[in-house]
Amino acid sequence: MTENELLFELIRSFKNIHEGADKVLEHHSPQALRQLVNLTLGPKNNSDEIASLINDYIKYSVKTGHKQYVNQLFGGYNETGVLGDVLATLMNTSMYTYEVSPMATLIEKEVVAKMNSYSGFANGDGIFTAGGSSSNNLAMLCARHQKYPDMKTGGLSGRKPLSAFVSDQAHYSFQKASYALGLGSNYLVSVASNELGQMIPEALEAAIEHSKARGEEPFFIAATAGTTELGAFDPIEPLAHIAEKHQCWLHVDGSWGGSLILSQKHRHLFSGIQKAQSFAWNAHKLMNAPLTASVLLVANPTILYEAVSADRADYLFHDHEDASFDLGKKSLQCGRRNDALKVWLAWKAIGDEQYEKNINHLMELAQYCAAFVEAHKDLELLSPVQTLNINFRFKAPEGIDANELNLAIRNQLLHEGQAMVNYCHLQGRLSIRLVLVNHQIQKSDLEQFFTSFVSTAKKLVAEVKI
Ligand SMILES: Cc1ncc(COP(=O)(O)O)c(C=O)c1O
Repeated sequence: MTENELLFELIRSFKNIHEGADKVLEHHSPQALRQLVNLTLGPKNNSDEIASLINDYIKYSVKTGHKQYVNQLFGGYNETGVLGDVLATLMNTSMYTYEVSPMATLIEKEVVAKMNSYSGFANGDGIFTAGGSSSNNLAMLCARHQKYPDMKTGGLSGRKPLSAFVSDQAHYSFQKASYALGLGSNYLVSVASNELGQMIPEALEAAIEHSKARGEEPFFIAATAGTTELGAFDPIEPLAHIAEKHQCWLHVDGSWGGSLILSQKHRHLFSGIQKAQSFAWNAHKLMNAPLTASVLLVANPTILYEAVSADRADYLFHDHEDASFDLGKKSLQCGRRNDALKVWLAWKAIGDEQYEKNINHLMELAQYCAAFVEAHKDLELLSPVQTLNINFRFKAPEGIDANELNLAIRNQLLHEGQAMVNYCHLQGRLSIRLVLVNHQIQKSDLEQFFTSFVSTAKKLVAEVKI
């Protein structure tokens, strides 16, 4: 088969590769996998060898579109989104200037405007980034620029430390952003959350006052719309008041839960978002677009340009009447993939109404899982199901450590390729974190999951394999 034929064959069969696979994955240790595949680079390979390597890649990859893949905050796919991503690769352009990516530029602007119609940033702007972590990082940079524009040239030295505030449930990318921006993670304040994992506004206010009393300059607050472990939503409205009072930038990290805003039924979770200054929204999670498709939306239409534009790029950004369409001036990247195309094409094919139905379907499934676990004599919920994260575990019989047992169940399912589900720790208790992200999943798939989970648990208990 030629490479061209292989490409067509892969596109023809990719759905079946994911959904038709017996197993979610064929698990091997890194050492064993190295032995199974010829990874070494050197001599030229012929097309049969290339075809065989592609088959190996497929065989040993996790099938993230499989219905028993409920492991991470992405999964499934939408076919038009895949088509858009393939098209972006085939046309292979870069998003810095209008002249090299005319269609793609207009498409990115259209997707940003559409997303801003949900965020309520009436005159807003936005840019596709390398992922939710990058969106959070860029939001913090914009916030810093707004507070002290001269830091762009003068740097941080000789100033009061700047402090930023996130909940104790926030994503670790804020820590990375604090390193990257030179703030230091000691100045990233972790604000207490309530029993549901939502930031407590009074605790935020107190933390800001303490920071000021320590001689710091508070500048940034991030609310999370869908926390990674519990799927909790911070109360945006009261946080917006506090941000305004203390002249802080309010960012909403919707990397995980942002797409819930597509549903009128669940949009109340974002109440007050129009008062925020920025919003990170990942289409590669709940909109099932291929990785990566993340957007940072901003309320101030000039802040991206002001915060990141550089003046040593005469070779790239030329003066011309359409220069305002050169998106590269608002991005931290130079060469940049066209991630907007897959989102735009999928949105064209699916439409607002179906996206809303998809979100509502997942939210209903989450409540179904909650009821299923609660009704099952061997399972227990470790936290109320708020959105799309189901935290539960198998009740260990006396004499068996529940953390060890549940970890063993999860690993056994993974090693056998039956299902892939992740875990986290909630107050020291190992919690199986099932996430609903693939819109194709139905109740029967979840029943299959719980059946495998419980029967694996019982086998392990019987064999005392832990
Ligand atoms: C709340 C939250 N923020 C940010 C991120 C980071 O997003 P990405 O994986 O696209 O970098 C995640 C990832 O799961 C997340 O759950």
